[in-house]
Amino acid sequence: MRLLIVLGAPGSGKGTQAKLLAEYLGLVHLSTGDILRDEVRRETELGNQANQFMTAGELVPDALILDMIKAKLVLDSMTKGFIFDGFPRTVIQAKGLDRLADEVGARIDCAIDLVVDDEIVVKRLTARSGCSVCGAIYNDVWNPPRRAGFCDKDDSALIRRADDSELVVRNRLHVYRQQTKPLEEYYSHRALLVKVDGYGMTGQVLARILISLEASGTNDRTQV
Ligand code: AP5
Ligand code: MG
Ligand code: ZN
Repeated sequence: MRLLIVLGAPGSGKGTQAKLLAEYLGLVHLSTGDILRDEVRRETELGNQANQFMTAGELVPDALILDMIKAKLVLDSMTKGFIFDGFPRTVIQAKGLDRLADEVGARIDCAIDLVVDDEIVVKRLTARSGCSVCGAIYNDVWNPPRRAGFCDKDDSALIRRADDSELVVRNRLHVYRQQTKPLEEYYSHRALLVKVDGYGMTGQVLARILISLEASGTNDRTQV
């Protein structure tokens, strides 16, 4: 089983690119943010514990995240592999993932680090909306839906995330610098870090990622 990690600041395009990559490479897209938001919506015990952290733009405790990931890996253990979007986010989570990968016989192929300037992030996130049913991601400026407020794919209502106000976005960027940035060094030490410029059209960014994966020997759709 292969594991690809998409790193990058809030709004760097992790969700947008991870969805496209998962489709292209035939891997399962696993966004910890999406899973947690679903838990919050369903008011599960995990959702109730996570809600206060997410609303403030703080990270949910590592132990809760690692338990959640372990459950997903075990549940989908027959899959070809996963693309992690927004996980790991701390060195403790990265070490936990190493242990889990050993346990299930998986290998980490690479950590793709999407690089985007803070001010672009603020512009992107305050103009984002997403489909409440299929999770498609839109942007009022760069990627608007055909009919304002409704998903192109299934016509469901688009919603805005509670943590996309400018104040919370700036705190998320601060938390990212403090707690997630050290992962660049963690993966670069193991020659797994692939830095990719996240500016430009979505298709251009995807092409850059695929070229970088090719160069690092991990863009092989037939790999298992
Ligand atoms: P999470 O859901 O992971 O949010 P995030 O990291 O803040 O990232 P976003 O989802 O906001 O942005 P993205 O990089 O996916 O960008 P997107 O593709 O949407 O986490 C949310 C919260 O959950 C955390 O704050 C934390 O509380 C908790 N959490 C989650 N995982 C956790 C973990 N492992 N540990 C602890 N806590 C955890 O794009 C953004 C916008 O830009 C969209 O509108 C999109 O259309 C647009 N866009 C994308 N690409 C382009 C482009 N190339 N050009 C122009 N616009 C673009
Ligand atoms: Mg996302
Ligand atoms: Zn939809």
